[in-house]
Amino acid sequence: MSTVVSIDGEVFAPEDAKVSVFDRGFLYGDSVFETIRTYGARPFRLAEHLARLADSAERVFIELPVGLEQLAEEVQGTIALAGNPESYVRLMVTRGSGPLGLDSGFRAHPTRVIITGPLAPPPPEAYTDGIGVITFQTQRVIESTDAAGAKVGNYLVVVLALRKAREQGAAEALIVDGSGSVAEGGSSNVFAHLDGSWVTPPLDIGILAGITRATILAACSAHAVPVREERLSVSDLHRAAEVFICSSIREVIPVVRVDGQAVGDGRPGPRTRLVSELFSQAVAESMGG
Ligand SMILES: Cc1ncc(COP(=O)(O)O)c(C=O)c1O
Repeated sequence: MSTVVSIDGEVFAPEDAKVSVFDRGFLYGDSVFETIRTYGARPFRLAEHLARLADSAERVFIELPVGLEQLAEEVQGTIALAGNPESYVRLMVTRGSGPLGLDSGFRAHPTRVIITGPLAPPPPEAYTDGIGVITFQTQRVIESTDAAGAKVGNYLVVVLALRKAREQGAAEALIVDGSGSVAEGGSSNVFAHLDGSWVTPPLDIGILAGITRATILAACSAHAVPVREERLSVSDLHRAAEVFICSSIREVIPVVRVDGQAVGDGRPGPRTRLVSELFSQAVAESMGG
């Protein structure tokens, strides 16, 4: 199992991988990123991740330093070099190094970094027994700007939310926005089964367009599993028959407690199992398996 790092196209061992302390990613979280995983050692939905990276970068006025094809090659290159059975890939682009100060108007040379290491999925119990989540009312930094929904480097609010979740024995925090709408997990999207249909919050409330979320929406539609994109309140979560969160690394994880209160009978349910199976089928189809 190994981890390799590529910085601006040059490959390093993790202990030798260094960026400047003047890099704005380090100074201000002035960066965008993607987290990708492999199946059969090949990246899943790489084109979609790169398109989302480009979209995030455009929204915060970071110019990608190289084209998406080259980024794709560099990602594939690190996966091959790392040689893990399965890898995660963290691909980030910062605005680059510049003078101290918040003005982004300097002639920036964005820094690109790819960290590729062995995939570390959640423990099997997360899938068999489900997890607890908390709700966490907050306003994330990016939400009050035109760039809402971009995948930017500053996750400090999520770090704090997750700390609170851990204190309460939960594994994820669901972000609730100023209007009381459940937005998404700290690093996941959320679905709740209500009145005979899955419901997931719509993108226009400023959430990340999750690639797992999109894969699940398409799979449900293709298999006539009712699903709609609609706002969810905290009380919707409490009355839902089933709830799950999803992300590239965690795939589909049943949620069995919200704020310490059982969801349904407090056990992972058959509807979540079906979505999980449909997701795995979609992965297999997409990877040619
Ligand atoms: C805020 C947020 N929402 C949702 C997701 C899930 O997105 P994806 O399915 O593309 O991994 C992530 C992933 O890291 C995230 O950070």
